[in-house]
Amino acid sequence: MTDFDVVTGAFSYSGAAIARELQASGRRVRTLTGHPARAPAGTAVEARPLDFTDPSGIRESLRGAGTLYNTYWVRFAHGQVSHEVAVANSRALFLAAAEAGVRRIVHVSITHPSADSPYPYFRGKAAVEQALADLGVSHAVLRPSILFGGSGVLINNIAWLLRRMPVFAVGGTGAYRIRPIHVDDLARLAVRAGSGAGTEVIDAVGPDRPTFLGLVTRIRDAVGSHSGVIRVPGSVIPPAARLLGLALRDTLLTAEEYRAMADGLADTDGPATGETSLTEWIIEHKDTLGRGYANELTRHFRSGRKSKDRFLPNGQVWHGRERSAVRMVRPS
Ligand SMILES: NC(=O)c1ccc[n+]([C@@H]2O[C@H](COP(=O)([O-])OP(=O)(O)OC[C@H]3O[C@@H](n4cnc5c(N)ncnc54)[C@H](OP(=O)(O)O)[C@@H]3O)[C@@H](O)[C@H]2O)c1
Repeated sequence: MTDFDVVTGAFSYSGAAIARELQASGRRVRTLTGHPARAPAGTAVEARPLDFTDPSGIRESLRGAGTLYNTYWVRFAHGQVSHEVAVANSRALFLAAAEAGVRRIVHVSITHPSADSPYPYFRGKAAVEQALADLGVSHAVLRPSILFGGSGVLINNIAWLLRRMPVFAVGGTGAYRIRPIHVDDLARLAVRAGSGAGTEVIDAVGPDRPTFLGLVTRIRDAVGSHSGVIRVPGSVIPPAARLLGLALRDTLLTAEEYRAMADGLADTDGPATGETSLTEWIIEHKDTLGRGYANELTRHFRSGRKSKDRFLPNGQVWHGRERSAVRMVRPS
């Protein structure tokens, strides 16, 4: 048995939860990341660059690992980064893992990936799952629809809007359902799948399955918002979200994300694999939920590789003017 696993994005969202879960079970964790500067002080997670221009560097970072937990993906196309690029990068990551002799890959996907999907996100996810199936490495695929908990974006930002806006527009009837899972439940499923052997494809979904309208109403009531929840034609949502996004300097919700949700792709009717109730979690977090805005563009496009953070040849990280205390290990 090898003594460490590799998790992509251990200083970001689901990767951080998976890394915590692995460490709690006694495993040593190495991460591949573009954001080494987000490492918590004193972390035992060893960071290496997730640099797709250096496939041999990625391969060497994976050499000796037991399981690769892959959370890498891009939420939406922006600048040079598109879903096609993310598919090619995911293939390169899997290939590097196979060449490095990684025993197993646990891959985080999405509910309802499909090669025939009209949505590039879902088509891309299907292509990545296929690439993993073709690789010949033992693997498991987890398919969440929406994650909540920790530093999650969607539920938090709905609450943020409800705390500030006089009205909140829900597209169409709002009767489409979503099946969120707590990020720590996803992490538990991932780590369990990591120690398995057979091919597994698991819908990673929680026990609650509210309609979108019901979700917004629950959040509004919990945070004490007086915002009016109104229904508008679905065609209004993408331009309205674009306008709000301009004001917030973010991509709040893409047209594809809205349409996919309205098409029911964030829902499944199978058994729950996560335990945490979204409704109970919203009530428990009503005082803090939506107090701050979670900006996706800042998280992934305005910092890390795009900022002054640099992995130095000696293995340290350069954050503009100051050197990081993060322990960096040079790929050997
Ligand atoms: N969040 C949700 O609600 C949700 C719902 C369904 C499915 N999923 C799936 O769950 C997986 C993880 O999602 P997450 O929300 O936990 O993501 P995340 O932590 O924000 O990012 C996951 C990984 O992707 C990298 N990444 C993200 N955007 C990038 C960009 N624009 N350019 C380069 N690298 C980028 C991150 O790099 P860094 O290490 O540099 O941060 C990190 O390694 C994804 O496959 C996603 O499709 C998420």
